[in-house]
Amino acid sequence: MAVEQTLSIIKPDGVKKGVIGQVIARFEGAGLKVAAMKMAHLTRAQAEGFYHVHQQRPFFGSLVEFMTSGPVVLMILQGENAIAKNRELMGATDPAKAAPGTIRKDFASGIEQNTVHGSDGPDTAAFETQYFFNVFDRVNE
Ligand code: CMP
Repeated sequence: MAVEQTLSIIKPDGVKKGVIGQVIARFEGAGLKVAAMKMAHLTRAQAEGFYHVHQQRPFFGSLVEFMTSGPVVLMILQGENAIAKNRELMGATDPAKAAPGTIRKDFASGIEQNTVHGSDGPDTAAFETQYFFNVFDRVNE
């Protein structure tokens, strides 16, 4: 297995609930390292650009509203199999369908306000990490 980097976002609901520390502890507890991190309050343009693949979906407008409703934590997670590992820790998009012990099962309130985002594959991870971080922001171990 290769060392990978993947983008993680703690969404506005997670920041509002005060679970930043608990979410990061789960990543670190599973062996993922935080290779870059910052807080931001996304602009509409940033959120629309980030979720451009969903722009034809009926939930796009609401998703952009939600993602710009408060600050988020943006992180690059790094480690062996980081993309799949992060998705396993997050659980299913809909917290009602997420496995016990996953971040979304434990903290999310609905399919939209689902506490965390994680890149879903290598191409997405490459796009999403460079969308929010440049090469000088990254700390490679
Ligand atoms: P995320 O993994 O960030 O990718 C796209 C996001 O759109 C998703 O998490 C949810 O926040 C949101 N989303 C996906 N499906 C739906 C849906 N059916 N209704 C509302 N929001 C959704």
